[in-house]
Amino acid sequence: MNVRIRSELPSDVAAIEAVTVAAFLKAAHTSHTEHFIVDALRRSGQLSVSLVAEDDGIIIGHIAVSPVSLSCGANDWYGLGPISVAPERQRQGVGTRLVERVLADMHGLGAAGCVLLGAPSYYSRFGFSTLPSLVLPGVPPEYFQAISFRGPVPSGTVSYHESFAAQG
Ligand SMILES: CC(C)(COP(=O)(O)OP(=O)(O)OC[C@H]1O[C@@H](n2cnc3c(N)ncnc32)[C@H](O)[C@@H]1OP(=O)(O)O)[C@@H](O)C(=O)NCCC(=O)NCCS
Repeated sequence: MNVRIRSELPSDVAAIEAVTVAAFLKAAHTSHTEHFIVDALRRSGQLSVSLVAEDDGIIIGHIAVSPVSLSCGANDWYGLGPISVAPERQRQGVGTRLVERVLADMHGLGAAGCVLLGAPSYYSRFGFSTLPSLVLPGVPPEYFQAISFRGPVPSGTVSYHESFAAQG
């Protein structure tokens, strides 16, 4: 296995869509719209970070980061996701490498913090936890996690970009 993590290129778009569809096909919590979300974020210029995992020229994973809005007005917060690893390549450390690299890239962007919606058992290893002062309405609070890179943790309601409502 010779997996390389790198930023997406224009020529990766179809492969990113395919890996996203495949990863979420049998996932536990999914809207099956994740590939639409990635596409809508890209088209609206909201893909702050978009990384692929590539093995011998084959895209086997992808991770997206986009800006989020906080009701308190705090700046420089981002949302991590969707993240996808091809089903046959899951549990081989690819997702871990994507998350670690995306966190490093967010530091490079000057991010203040990052939120995500996902399984606490997976993301706690990267330093994410439930921060009671940050709320995403309509989801079980234990699945909404955050990591603060600098400054005090803000208090408020978090809104993802409208691309997260994309249906096609
Ligand atoms: C979640 C995902 C990106 C993880 O990527 P991965 O390459 O399989 O992850 P890694 O190999 O780095 O890590 C594997 C670890 O994650 C855990 N894990 C994988 N998917 C998990 C999930 N959905 N919930 C909880 N834990 C999960 C495994 O149990 C394993 O834990 P262990 O190391 O303690 O055994 C991948 O499984 C995936 O694409 N899933 C389908 C899409 C999805 O659910 N995306 C995330 C939505 S929040």
